[in-house]
Amino acid sequence: MLSLETPRLLLREMIPQDAAAMFDVWGDPKAMRWYPRALTRDEVDVWIEKQMERYPSGTGLLAMMLRETGEVIGDCGPVWHDPDGPPEVEIGYHVRRDCWNRGYATEAARAVRDYAFAALGCGHVISLIRPENLPSRRVAEKNGLTLHRMVFWRDYDHCVYRVEREGAQ
Ligand SMILES: CC(C)(COP(=O)(O)OP(=O)(O)OC[C@H]1O[C@@H](n2cnc3c(N)ncnc32)[C@H](O)[C@@H]1OP(=O)(O)O)[C@@H](O)C(=O)NCCC(=O)NCCS
Repeated sequence: MLSLETPRLLLREMIPQDAAAMFDVWGDPKAMRWYPRALTRDEVDVWIEKQMERYPSGTGLLAMMLRETGEVIGDCGPVWHDPDGPPEVEIGYHVRRDCWNRGYATEAARAVRDYAFAALGCGHVISLIRPENLPSRRVAEKNGLTLHRMVFWRDYDHCVYRVEREGAQ
């Protein structure tokens, strides 16, 4: 089972019962401002199934749980994407709006970055971020990712933020 611990968070594999909590994030049009649209409750079920299919390969977005209370407040995890060439591991993160700006995404993304280097053997990781999404760009920067290139991906311009594993060729 894939799970990662940080000082305040447990990142663990999602289960279908997480759908209500995930809908509070993915169903929120304000949080999904930089996505084509928010998801419906049924679409969240399908989206969770997709993550569950990824877990056997050691990837997939994980439920972001507060260790203190057990509450699920978002997701973060490594996912393979091929925005403009060979597949690369992308760190994705989404946090419920009332929990923004408390450092949760940064803390989670850092653990995922280190996991991708140590356990998946990645030489680098990326984050794909719409240029207007300043909070997400800030999270990437706080974890040592820098702007590497721009790509047109899924109908929109995206910044590709990237960081190399220390010592990687
Ligand atoms: C992006 C997101 C995950 C960040 O989550 P978070 O837990 O609030 O992130 P953190 O608290 O770790 O860091 C947020 C940083 O952005 C900064 N920030 C917030 N709003 C900002 C703005 N309008 N302009 C610039 N920086 C901003 C915060 O000040 C903070 O930086 P700091 O620690 O230097 O002060 C959250 O905003 C979110 O869920 N957005 C919707 C989903 C999404 O867009 N995901 C990313 C897809 S690429």
